[in-house]
Amino acid sequence: MRTYQNQDLIVYWEPENCIHVGYCIRELPSVFNKKNRPWIDINGAPPEEIIKLIDTCPSGALRYSLPEGSRVDPNLAKGPGSLHYRSEAPRVEVRLVASGPILIKGPSALYDESGELLKTGDALSLCRCGKTKNPPFCDGSHRF
Ligand code: FES
Repeated sequence: MRTYQNQDLIVYWEPENCIHVGYCIRELPSVFNKKNRPWIDINGAPPEEIIKLIDTCPSGALRYSLPEGSRVDPNLAKGPGSLHYRSEAPRVEVRLVASGPILIKGPSALYDESGELLKTGDALSLCRCGKTKNPPFCDGSHRF
């Protein structure tokens, strides 16, 4: 994990968890810019703006915390991007079946690329072999 810090905010980046969709770069380029080294300029925007952006990071690769003496209102730093955030939502289990689907157990909602809701439920089975005739769901074709 890499860290970037000033007196008000610490930003953490876990490159192995990043899915590189570029959301942070598009939404807050004064802070997140791949052309710069380091690519995160923690002084490029007010800490509250950085916190707001990180709370929407889809992969969780970006996180934050407040250093001691930070001037940021701690109530603004309790979102899903906080290093100390603990969701109160029920845990969803995701299992990879050997040579088979991804099984999701727990209250879930599945959306397509455009954000359209495909399915909700407490059990989803998603194809990862590419043979299904009903993508993105497993239809058992992986066995043949
Ligand atoms: S994993 Fe079952 S059809 Fe692909």
